[in-house]
Amino acid sequence: MTRVLYLIACAAGPTQYVDEGVRVARADGWDVCLILTPSAAAWWEPRMQELVELTGHPVRSRYKLPWEKDVLPKADAMLVAPMSCTTLNKWGAGISDTLAIGIPSEAVHMGVPVVAMPYFNQAQGAQPAVTRSIAALREQGVLFLDGPDGYEMHPPKQGDPKSYPWDRALAGVRRQVSI
Ligand SMILES: Cc1cc2nc3c(=O)[nH]c(=O)nc-3n(C[C@H](O)[C@H](O)[C@H](O)COP(=O)(O)O)c2cc1C
Repeated sequence: MTRVLYLIACAAGPTQYVDEGVRVARADGWDVCLILTPSAAAWWEPRMQELVELTGHPVRSRYKLPWEKDVLPKADAMLVAPMSCTTLNKWGAGISDTLAIGIPSEAVHMGVPVVAMPYFNQAQGAQPAVTRSIAALREQGVLFLDGPDGYEMHPPKQGDPKSYPWDRALAGVRRQVSI
């Protein structure tokens, strides 16, 4: 049976091309379910149906109502990419006010492999909270890909969101599920 990957994307540049991330993950053998932050969902709102058709699953971006059933299959692994500076710092501080944080922040404590790869610039990354948040995520068992095997922060105004290295993110997932 095909394993299920939750690909969780924030309102950071490469999310404009998250369909490419879905394709890379599917080529790696995953059944991909997409979860977007509410801000990221706003970016895709006019083309949301494309993502539904590409993944074959509903695209979730908000917590369900108490009487609603789960619409996605159980995840075998989760990849938060691109992770925004805001989502990183909220998660690091224990705030899960979006489904995009709520799902992986609990899953990592339930034995699900969770990988995160950021996308933000060096000026955003210079906030002291960023170092603390990365440490907090790693302490909880998240594989945080910020080195040469992941995404290294770019100088302000010099990002290239189209070239986001989805392949490195998926390689991280492969490493994390084989542990
Ligand atoms: C056009 C645009 C591009 C943005 N790109 C980034 C980015 O690449 N990385 C980042 O951390 N924040 C970026 N932001 C800021 C985030 O969208 C903002 O912090 C937002 O609150 C993130 O929320 P989320 O993490 O819930 O998606 C961008 C904002 C806009 C309007």
